Amino acid sequence: MPEAVCPGPRGFASCVIEWQKAHGRHHLPWQKTADPYRIWLSEIMLQQTQVQTVMPYYERFLARFPTLEALAGAPIDRVLEVWSGLGYYARARNLHRCAQVLVINRAGRFSADPEENAALPGIGRSTAAAIAVFAFGRRAAILDGNVKRVLGRCFALAGGSSAARAEREMWALAESLLPDSGVESYSQGMMDLGATVCTRHQPACHACPLRQTCVACREGRQAELPQPRMRARLPLRSSRLLLLSDGRRVLLERRPPSGIWGGLLSLPELGDESPEALARRHGCRLLGSRTLPPMVHSFSHFRLRIEVVHGAVDDIGHGVGEAIVEWLPVEQLAAAALPAPIRKLLLAAMA
Ligand code: ADE
Repeated sequence: MPEAVCPGPRGFASCVIEWQKAHGRHHLPWQKTADPYRIWLSEIMLQQTQVQTVMPYYERFLARFPTLEALAGAPIDRVLEVWSGLGYYARARNLHRCAQVLVINRAGRFSADPEENAALPGIGRSTAAAIAVFAFGRRAAILDGNVKRVLGRCFALAGGSSAARAEREMWALAESLLPDSGVESYSQGMMDLGATVCTRHQPACHACPLRQTCVACREGRQAELPQPRMRARLPLRSSRLLLLSDGRRVLLERRPPSGIWGGLLSLPELGDESPEALARRHGCRLLGSRTLPPMVHSFSHFRLRIEVVHGAVDDIGHGVGEAIVEWLPVEQLAAAALPAPIRKLLLAAMA
C-alpha cells in the first residue's frame, strides 16, 4: 500500500515524488546518464514504443552510433538498418536530420532551453521538456500518452468538443502541477505511474498514491476516463506486392524517402502491372506464381491489407539496373533495413 495520499495541488507533486522514489523505475538504461544525446535518443524511441521493446534497440543504436557526430556522419541507410523493426520510420529520418542540424549549426550541442530544442526535427513539446528535465535538470512539463492518462483520470478531464482546447487545458494543468524542485523524480514518477499503475485497462488503483484525490478512482469511472478521442475506425487501404526470387535472392526496391516505410527496402508494388510484366521489366522470366494469404498491418492513421504474389524466376537477370532495385541474398534478410511485417513475411516465405 502506498504510504502517502495526496492533499492539494502542492501535495500532488510531493506525493508522486515520494511514490517514485519508493516504487518507480530506477534502472532503465537512459536513467544512468545525463548525456543529452542519450536522453534525446531514448525519448525519440519511446515516443510511440514501449520501454521493453525500446531497450535492445537503444543499446544496439548506441553501439553503432556512440555519439551525435557518429550519427550525423552516417548514411541514412545505416540508420534505418538499426531502426528497422521499431516502426514509425519518420522518427529515424528526423533523428538523423536533427543530428546533422545540431552538428552543422549548433556545434553538436543541445540547448538546455526546451523551446529551442522543440524547433528541431522530430522534437515536440513533450520530448523537448523531457530532454530539458533529464539532461539539464530544468523545470518543464512533460505530457506524453501516459501522463495524459494519469491527469485525465485524476482530474476527470472531459474530451470536450475541441481537441485543441482539451490539449491546451491539459498542458496548462501539467504546468500548474510542476513542483519547484525534484522535477526529475516527479516527471519520471508521472510516466512510471502511467506505465505501471494507471494503465489503460484495469488500473491498479489500490497501489496508486493519487487514489484519494483521483476522480476516476473515487467515482469508479476508470473505464470511461480519460474520454477517448472521437476516432473513426481506421480506413483500410490495400497493396499488392511481388516477391520475385530465384530461391537464393529476392528482388527489393528502396521506397521513396517520405511516406510509409520511407527510405526502407521493400517488395515492389504491383499496381496494375502483371507479375509477368514486372519480372520482364527486371530482366527475368517468371516460371510460376502463387498468391500468399493476405495480412493486415496497422499504421497510426490507416490499416494496410497486404497481398503478396510469390513468383519464381530461373535467373535474376540484370535488366534495368535501377539504383533503387537490388537482389538481396536471403541470408541478409535478417539484418537489412526492411519494415518488420515485410521481414517476417520474407523470412517465412524463404524458409
Ligand atoms: N516514456 C517516455 N519517456 C520515458 C522515460 N524517460 N522513461 C520511461 N518511459 C518513458
